[in-house]
Amino acid sequence: MSSLRKQLMVWLMPMYVVAAIVAATITYYMYGSMVSFFMDNQLRLFADSHAVSSGSVPALRPLTAYNVVKKGDMVVQIWDRSHRLVTSSWPELALDRQSTQGFSDLTVGDSRWRVYTMHSPDRTVQSAQSLEFRRHLVKSQAVQVALPVILMIPFSAIFLWFGMRPATRRLELISQAAARQDEHRLSELPAEHAPSEIRPLVLAVNTLLARLRNAFAAQRRFVQDAAHELRTPITAMSLQLENLKARMPDGEREQLKQLEAGLSRTKRLVEQLLRLARQESPRQADPPVAIQLDALLKSSLADFMPLADKRSIDLGYAADIDATVHANEDELRSLVHNLLDNALRYTPPGGIVDVTLHRDTGVVMVEVADNGPGIPPELLPRVCDRFFRIEGGETEGSGLGLAIARNAADRNRIGLELSNRVDGSGLIARMRFEAASVTSQPGPKPVVAREETAAEFAAETQPPN
Ligand SMILES: Nc1ncnc2c1ncn2[C@@H]1O[C@H](COP(=O)(O)OP(=O)(O)OP(=O)(O)O)[C@@H](O)[C@H]1O
Ligand SMILES: [Mg+2]
Repeated sequence: MSSLRKQLMVWLMPMYVVAAIVAATITYYMYGSMVSFFMDNQLRLFADSHAVSSGSVPALRPLTAYNVVKKGDMVVQIWDRSHRLVTSSWPELALDRQSTQGFSDLTVGDSRWRVYTMHSPDRTVQSAQSLEFRRHLVKSQAVQVALPVILMIPFSAIFLWFGMRPATRRLELISQAAARQDEHRLSELPAEHAPSEIRPLVLAVNTLLARLRNAFAAQRRFVQDAAHELRTPITAMSLQLENLKARMPDGEREQLKQLEAGLSRTKRLVEQLLRLARQESPRQADPPVAIQLDALLKSSLADFMPLADKRSIDLGYAADIDATVHANEDELRSLVHNLLDNALRYTPPGGIVDVTLHRDTGVVMVEVADNGPGIPPELLPRVCDRFFRIEGGETEGSGLGLAIARNAADRNRIGLELSNRVDGSGLIARMRFEAASVTSQPGPKPVVAREETAAEFAAETQPPN
């Protein structure tokens, strides 16, 4: 779809050309008949003035070819009573004497002439004027009329371009406001500055946005309420299952394994759904607070030590720096938790997960690197979609963890990148904190948790609330 400005110009330019052609044609015919009328009159008066009989042949002012052809000077020829040409103001013009009185158009060689013949008792007088001169006169007049219209084309293009600039600028502002919208922040487009032709469209879009806002809010409320309502029966079922297991003989407990796994899957799904719904709820927007990244990472790692131990995974932590970041603490914690949870659950037992806090080209960076299977490169752009899971794996999950992580990162302006290791041996999840300020630089000796036991490491750190 081409721009309005271009479309206007495309329409206007041919209109100017047509206007110029019409103006030139009308001028050509109207001015032509006017020129013929006046010049014919002059031709007749000129012949008349030489036809007055005074006995002697009048002396004629000799003419040049230039004056006759270019200036339209009238040539006079006079014949005597015996039809002998006695004088001519331009003898080079060999026009025959016309026997009938009046106007005629004659051709001599390749030039055409308008001729008036006047018979008097003792002579014949003919006055003639070049028809090329007349045509040239009319043509140049037509061009003079068309020229200003043609000249209007570039001027109107410039006027149109700059004249429409404020209107297109306002449209740009509206489209920028539209581009900034997402499902979490649907605000009205600025209709007050819209050109009157576009205003109804902007108002209609605003009504649609309001309906969408309500629909999203209703959907969020529904998910949140449903997940919340599901939590109590699931907890009750888990307790009943525990009781049932306690009362069953040892050999038969195996039969409940599937039920237990299903329940824990459902519990996880409900928890993640609730987290996602809470995160997206506008009421959740707590103001950002200053967070020490080193402390937050240590406490998160402490939370995951039991899982790392259970899966025999070597969970390490190294910090080159400490940094303060302004973010929503719950959301930042949930971002780190989801990345750690993935690294620990998708890496096979005996694997290694390294968490580092360092500075990369001036930007504070936290990396969670594992040596698990990684993610097929073609699926990397989709893994942050809700409910997206990679088929074939044995690890269970709801497919919401990375969607929650991406949301949390976006809301706190943290860059989140997932990439496979260059040698293909695992995944690296990077968090870029562009706005973080480095608060200490402990020097080259990193804090390494790998050598510490899970218990020692957990004891060093505060458990989260
Ligand atoms: N570190 C990782 N190594 C390999 N695959 C991963 C890793 N992290 C994520 N994935 C893949 O990306 C998919 C999406 O992850 P996501 O965290 O969104 O969901 P999930 O782990 O399946 O469920 P949950 O909501 O319980 O976290 C996973 O199913 C998994 O296949
Ligand atoms: Mg996950």
